[in-house]
Amino acid sequence: MKIAILGGGGFRVPMVYGALLARAEQLGLDAVSLYDVDECRLGQIRPVLVGLEEERGTTLAFTATTSLDDALEGADFVFCAIRVGNLEGRVVDERVPLDEGVVGQETTGPGGLCFALRTVPVMVELAGRVAERAPGAWFVNFTNPAGLVTEAIRTELGDRAIGICDSPAGLCRRVAGALGRRPQELWFDYFGLNHLGWLRGVHDGERDLLPGLLADDDLLGSFEEGRLFGGEWLRTLGMIPNEYLFFYYFASDTVGALRSGLQTRAEFLLRQQAAFYGENSRTPGAALEAWRATRREREGTYFAEAHAAAGIDGPMDDAEDVGGYEGEALAVVDAIASNRQRVLILDTANASSLPFLDAHAVVEVPCIVDGTGVRPVAVGEVPGHARALVESIKEVERLTIRAALTRSRELAVEALALHPLVPSVNTARRIFDAYAGSHAELAELFS
Ligand code: G6P
Ligand code: MN
Repeated sequence: MKIAILGGGGFRVPMVYGALLARAEQLGLDAVSLYDVDECRLGQIRPVLVGLEEERGTTLAFTATTSLDDALEGADFVFCAIRVGNLEGRVVDERVPLDEGVVGQETTGPGGLCFALRTVPVMVELAGRVAERAPGAWFVNFTNPAGLVTEAIRTELGDRAIGICDSPAGLCRRVAGALGRRPQELWFDYFGLNHLGWLRGVHDGERDLLPGLLADDDLLGSFEEGRLFGGEWLRTLGMIPNEYLFFYYFASDTVGALRSGLQTRAEFLLRQQAAFYGENSRTPGAALEAWRATRREREGTYFAEAHAAAGIDGPMDDAEDVGGYEGEALAVVDAIASNRQRVLILDTANASSLPFLDAHAVVEVPCIVDGTGVRPVAVGEVPGHARALVESIKEVERLTIRAALTRSRELAVEALALHPLVPSVNTARRIFDAYAGSHAELAELFS
């Protein structure tokens, strides 16, 4: 079996590679190719992977290339996590809305839409190449905004495009931990879109454990989402939202925290990652150590703006909560390649899972995964507030995809203006123009 990793110079690639090393034999994996447009980044990640191999005393003899066709040749699975515009682009995505008093975030609100506008054309082209060069491959997409991007590439790959996010599985793991249970013993009734989902039930046989959890402030205080949203609001909702819903429910608090001088996530990462990627000629051991230290700091400051807005200390020391990102990807590969049925929360076409959306809308819900692919389970009707938000964001996502593919400023402004976090059409216009003025890719696309 061969796995191609697009965005092979990305910072999270060693996490995936470490997991592949551990499971290679079981999966029958004998080739890994890394593809990136940036040879330097590939060159920085390479010694980290060799460091992992040396540490484990095992190798997968990976190749690293800037030729997409070489990487795709014979691939059975294609993992894809790319960042069009790099972190410099993310800085603009997040800073422009903030200057208008609107949430500035990588995937949520205008930042996510701008990220999508320049990412969709690139991803559709990439997906087309995959369909041509590796027609049988399953395409596991991490590229953000993951749900929107997965919907856009379905024109090329259909159901072989599978979107993935570590956030819902992380929520389920944390909730299981708070309940003193193992996630495998429970059914997590989760639904929504990527970065816009809710956990509305935790079933143990006939019993729903969620109401008991929501009633217990001590238990709620023991995990990330419980502390972020607070018991009172969680009891009002009767559900536990995905962490990204913080930016909707506490939008002005987030803006306030960031405007009081806190740097944006992208501004922090730009400096932090430059320090890692800027250093050359490390030995594999030193490269691995530097990567680990950088990763620790990155994870330790994740969601800092939300924590500041919520007035809580940084993330809990979640020593148990490792392996989320790569664990989800490998679970998909294992279920499909070994035809071992599993339930995973993934981004796939709705079919009839959420009855109020059409069949082609990409949703994020529990799916049965096996050798035949990914099938969403029926979620059924959901609380009205969640339904309304899902419907309006799905509409905004689709406008954004059309704007990107038709290079239409009008559609892009419409998408921004109809986003619930944007308070005025004029704000949307100014945000779009500020984006177009700072992003070379966008200026070119919409010129
Ligand atoms: C989580 C989300 C990803 C997102 C990442 C951002 O893993 O599920 O979709 O890209 O966080 O983390 P970062 O360290 O880049 O802020
Ligand atoms: Mn995600």
